[in-house]
Amino acid sequence: MNIRLARAEDLVGMQQANLFNLPENYHIRLWLYHLITWPQLSFVAEDAKGRIVGYVLAKMCDDATKVHGHINSISVMRSHRRLGLAKKLMELSQEAMISVYKANYVSLHVRETNKAAIGLYRDTLGFEAVEVEKGYYADGENAYMMRLNLKIES
Ligand code: ACO
Repeated sequence: MNIRLARAEDLVGMQQANLFNLPENYHIRLWLYHLITWPQLSFVAEDAKGRIVGYVLAKMCDDATKVHGHINSISVMRSHRRLGLAKKLMELSQEAMISVYKANYVSLHVRETNKAAIGLYRDTLGFEAVEVEKGYYADGENAYMMRLNLKIES
């Protein structure tokens, strides 16, 4: 398995994985916008044949006081789950948020019922749920807004 920065030629594979794994799907323009605007933050996992089996799509945001990263979407194909790929993809993106943008924290939304993703974020990576956003998803499910403070090396 190879994990590396996402490139424009990975967009179709990333979008296909997203369509397989999640109901939240985006126009290819949005994927491209992310890769062009924050080229250091999104990563893919590829198998021995170069097929995309996982991805993380991330961006930077500015609020009033703090620069922070945001994970838009992450997924790993069923055939490749529980191998540590999502953990590695998240860590690489978080490291780039710190080293390139000096991000103070990283945020994301996750469905209240998504046990696997919540396990990854909370138990493995140390995120905390800071808010419940009622009816955040198109089908009315609530989202946890989760956040992880990032440690900037001095
Ligand atoms: N149940 C409970 N905990 C889990 C599960 C699970 N099914 N899967 C992963 N975890 C937790 C565990 O703590 C695990 O550590 P362990 O294996 O040592 O116990 C830890 O996460 C790391 O697991 P990884 O192997 O790195 O995770 P994986 O590569 O399997 O991917 C993911 C996890 C991305 C949630 C995957 O299940 C998936 O693609 N699900 C469908 C798409 C999805 O829900 N994406 C997240 C939506 S929210 C968003 O995109 C911001």
